[in-house]
Amino acid sequence: MQLHAETLTKSYHQHEVVNIEKVTFGAKGVEGLIGPNGAGKSTLMGLLTRRIAPTSGTIKLDTDKGSTALNPLRSHEVARIGLIKTNQRIQGFDSLTIRDSLRLAATAPSDEGIGSIFGGKRDTDEIEDQVATYLEAFPFSDRNGHARSGGEKKLVDILRCLIARPRLLLMDEPTAGLPDDITRIVMDMVRAKVAAGEMRVVVVEHDLPLIWEYCDYVHFLSEGSILFEGEPDEVKSNRVVAEKYMGV
Ligand SMILES: Nc1ncnc2c1ncn2[C@@H]1O[C@H](COP(=O)(O)OP(=O)(O)OP(=O)(O)O)[C@@H](O)[C@H]1O
Ligand SMILES: [Mg+2]
Repeated sequence: MQLHAETLTKSYHQHEVVNIEKVTFGAKGVEGLIGPNGAGKSTLMGLLTRRIAPTSGTIKLDTDKGSTALNPLRSHEVARIGLIKTNQRIQGFDSLTIRDSLRLAATAPSDEGIGSIFGGKRDTDEIEDQVATYLEAFPFSDRNGHARSGGEKKLVDILRCLIARPRLLLMDEPTAGLPDDITRIVMDMVRAKVAAGEMRVVVVEHDLPLIWEYCDYVHFLSEGSILFEGEPDEVKSNRVVAEKYMGV
C-alpha cells in the first residue's frame, strides 16, 4: 500500500503550514517523518488521513486492488481501507475500560474512524484472544479498569490502532509520554508486524536515536516542505537536516 500526495497545501489564515510538491509513504517498511516543532508533521498526517481538509492538492492510495483517490473520502472511510493514525495528544477514552476499548477497535468502526472491515472478519473468540495478547504484553495498572495515566491512555490509543489491523499506520510521536521500556515493546511489536508483511508504518518522532534505529527510510520536513529524504545514514549526515534541525 502506497500513499501518494501531490501539490498538497494547507493554509490557516493565509499562512501556509504545509506545501508539498510530491511525497510517497509506504514504499518501505518503517519510515520516519522528522522535522522541527511546527514544521507541519501532524498537519500533514491529518491531511493524509482526511481529518484535515487540504487547501489544495491530491492524495491517493495505491493497493494491489488499484488506486483510490482519498480527497472525496471521510476519515472513517480512509480508516476502513486500512490507513490509520495514532494521536500526538490524547483526549477522551474515559468512558470505556482498556479491555473494552480494544474490543471495540477490533470489532466496529468507531467515532475516531477505526475500522476493521479489511483483513477478514474476526469471530468473538479470536478478538478476545487478540485483546488478551495485547493486554498481557504491557504492565497496565488495571487491565480490566480504565487507563489511568497519560502514558496508559497513549498506549491504549496505539493498541487500538494496531488491533484494527491497519495496512499503513501513521504514528504521531508514539514515544512522547511513554516510559522507555514500553516504547521499546511497542516499536518491536510494530517492527515484527512490518517484517511479517502485515503493515507498513510512518513514525513522526523527535527521538532521533529511535528513528535511526527503527526506520528504513526517513523524510525531513521543514516549514511545511520535504527538504530531504533518504536512508537514516544519509539523513543523519545531511547538511540541511543538521543546520535546520539538529542545531549543528
Ligand atoms: N488548527 C490550526 N489553526 C491554525 N494554525 C495551526 C493549526 N494547526 C496547526 N497550526 C500551525 O501549523 C504549523 C504546523 O503545526 P503542526 O502541529 O503540524 O507541526 P508539527 O511539525 O507537528 O510540530 P510538533 O513537532 O511540535 O508536533 C504550526 O505553526 C501550527 O501553529
Ligand atoms: Mg506534531
